[in-house]
Amino acid sequence: MRTQVCIIGAGPAGLLLALLLRRENIDCIVLERRTADYVLGRIRAGVLERVTVDLLRRAGCAGRLDREALVHEGFEIAHGGRRLRIDLKDLAGHTVTVYGQTEITRDLMEAHHAQGTNIVYEAVDVSLHDFDGRPPRVRYRRGGVGHEIACDFIAGCDGAHGVSRESIPAAALATFERRYPFGWMGVLTDTPPVADEIVYANHARGFALCSMRSRSRSRYYVQCALTDTVDDWADARFWDELRRRLPTDLADGLVIGPPIEKSIAALRSFVAEPMRFGALFLAGDAAHIVPPTGAKGLNLAASDVHYLSRALIAHYRNRDDGGLETYSARALARVWKAVRFSWSLTNLLHRLGDDDFTPRVQQAELDYLERSRNARAALAENYAGLPLED
Ligand code: APR
Ligand code: PHB
Repeated sequence: MRTQVCIIGAGPAGLLLALLLRRENIDCIVLERRTADYVLGRIRAGVLERVTVDLLRRAGCAGRLDREALVHEGFEIAHGGRRLRIDLKDLAGHTVTVYGQTEITRDLMEAHHAQGTNIVYEAVDVSLHDFDGRPPRVRYRRGGVGHEIACDFIAGCDGAHGVSRESIPAAALATFERRYPFGWMGVLTDTPPVADEIVYANHARGFALCSMRSRSRSRYYVQCALTDTVDDWADARFWDELRRRLPTDLADGLVIGPPIEKSIAALRSFVAEPMRFGALFLAGDAAHIVPPTGAKGLNLAASDVHYLSRALIAHYRNRDDGGLETYSARALARVWKAVRFSWSLTNLLHRLGDDDFTPRVQQAELDYLERSRNARAALAENYAGLPLED
């Protein structure tokens, strides 16, 4: 088999890249280790920056999003029994769009289905060869049968535990990591959200988050110990703990219901540099992870795909390799700003330990946010999303 771009991973990064390339008649094959249903079963954050929505529109994949998504003009930070509103529209000049990653993935899958893209699900033992100078090849097995794809480029969109980054010689890669000593216990319910906008809560007992997928589906989180398992969080304990961490008016208005999903996520910041090695380009979680505070993960995957798709299109259309040469530096410049932002928001909102120093510093920063429009504007600009650089 031969293709122009072999894409590893059918998460949002791989599917969006494939869609943007196919619109320019660039041939690609997507190899995914899991089934489509498994990919759709993963629940992740759902706050989209304008840049991400624009890209989905450009890919011709925003019809349902434009009809169904919630547009949020602000969000809230609850602390000390008060609720501080960050007015994104006023402070940053634009809004965010609340639409679950699962729904985006479903829309991308449907667009590909309509176009007949070659997405190979249950492709196991994927291995990458000759991407350091010779024409690259990708091997995989499906149903016990071995296959080989010859290609011009490989896009490694296979997430944090994929094969692409692992295939780059360790000496060619620098990695940077911060692990946080806590996790998020998350619950999805078919109940109306407790507030119209997303609420992040800083509380002495730990962080809490009230989010949503729609007007009738809510997503709630509480900070938990890294050693906790879902079994440690019976429903009653979860709702109790969430209420205790919210201001009274919110706690009183919370509508609870049977969870349709419960999971624990560890928090991690991670960056691998560079994001290119020869003909192999990394995009999305394959190259970087951010903690979910601020919901930047999917937005970063989208901005990587923006830069990478433009670079590949310029290569095939105009024989211009400038974008391929600068891809890694451009993508990383945006990645590090989101890494900084999500790290700082994580530090501001979580219980970081047992000391009494950090809570005081957090209170000072929250007080500064209350009083300073400039401080709120900086937060809003980062939350709503920094512009793409040309
Ligand atoms: N071979 C083929 N596919 C693989 C392999 C492999 N060896 N390893 C992983 N995959 C697949 C996974 O099964 C998954 O479907 O690659 C896909 C990667 O998808 P994601 O993990 O969703 O990563 P990405 O597409 O970069 O999405 C960006 O946004 O909200 C954030 O972190 C969140 O996943 C999210 C990210
Ligand atoms: C979510 O809805 O799952 C969500 C929202 C905002 C975040 C993180 C997660 O910062």
